[in-house]
Amino acid sequence: TGPLVVLGLETSCDETAASVVRLTPDGAATVLSSVVHSQIDDHAAYGGVVPEIAARSHVEMIAGVTARAMAEAGVGYDGLDGVAATAGPGLVGGVMVGLSFGKAVALARDLPLVAVNHLEGHAVSARLGRPVDYPFLLLLVSGGHCQLLEVRGIGDMTRLGTTIDDAAGEAFDKIAKALGLGYPGGPALERLAEGGDGGRFDLPRALLGRKDCDFSFSGLKTAASRLAHACETDRDRADLADAVQGAIARQLADRSDRAMKAYAERHDHRLLVVAGGVAANRTVRATLEAAAARNGFAFLAPPMAWCTDNAAMIALAGAERLQKGWISDIDAAARPRWPL
Ligand code: KG4
Ligand code: ZN
Repeated sequence: TGPLVVLGLETSCDETAASVVRLTPDGAATVLSSVVHSQIDDHAAYGGVVPEIAARSHVEMIAGVTARAMAEAGVGYDGLDGVAATAGPGLVGGVMVGLSFGKAVALARDLPLVAVNHLEGHAVSARLGRPVDYPFLLLLVSGGHCQLLEVRGIGDMTRLGTTIDDAAGEAFDKIAKALGLGYPGGPALERLAEGGDGGRFDLPRALLGRKDCDFSFSGLKTAASRLAHACETDRDRADLADAVQGAIARQLADRSDRAMKAYAERHDHRLLVVAGGVAANRTVRATLEAAAARNGFAFLAPPMAWCTDNAAMIALAGAERLQKGWISDIDAAARPRWPL
């Protein structure tokens, strides 16, 4: 069979996104278009994503965002081989918008529908626009997820570790809020940490040295939030931000270190990929890159556009599924929880 061209839709959190991706039989993926409408401005006043506002905004944006992605791709609906939509996990009101819209397009154009797991989308995002062979080890760190996955292929992934409480991005956001920074807090906290010296703060080192690959950020969040309220000067706040960023990066690297050691016993192709919004953080990237080097792993952080939520990764996951002949029922359910 020839190349597959798939329209992808993503509406599981606070971005309305549509994209068209072409996948050739040898596995090379080209992004023909990728449109992302961020709702950050709609939610900023509330200090976080409000599910009801997100769902309403998806309803207003999805048709226009899809039309733009189709126009920019220049293939026309006749040029599509399938429609992929995020079916979970995520805020279910938003998921229902994108999934229903995808079903409508599939029915109207007589195209196969592929219901995609959002996490599987993040897992394949490193393969957008450049060849990255399976298998690889993936650290997925976003506002909603913090997981280590052994990715052997589409639909063939094992979770090696996950967070037992908060996601890393959630910890960044909540501590940033305690420091008086706006939403989303991660990027603001990284800016504040520039020029800070975290050495004077002794933050909890959760699970450090434990044998499994699980994460925990709630102790750090509580301790850092308490310290944040006690900060008196900008200097204090910058130092604390630096300490928090360092502590999160160290935990991510320590758990990834364990996962790499387990992974290396099973695979010769040693590659650590980091994806998700937190991968934007330079300290996190540098700390992970050093841990990868110590373990003889190559290190890959996809371009930021593919790290944060987007529809190209959903289109690619859908195309890889379609390539295997895996098509979803038109009555596929929206799933607020959907572990890989
Ligand atoms: O992947 P993403 O865009 O959305 C999902 O949660 O799926 O990730 C957003 C998260 C937020 O928690 C945000 O604060 C965090 O990624 N983030 C960062 C940085 N940029 C985004 N955290 C730390 N440093 C950054 N530069
Ligand atoms: Zn995501």
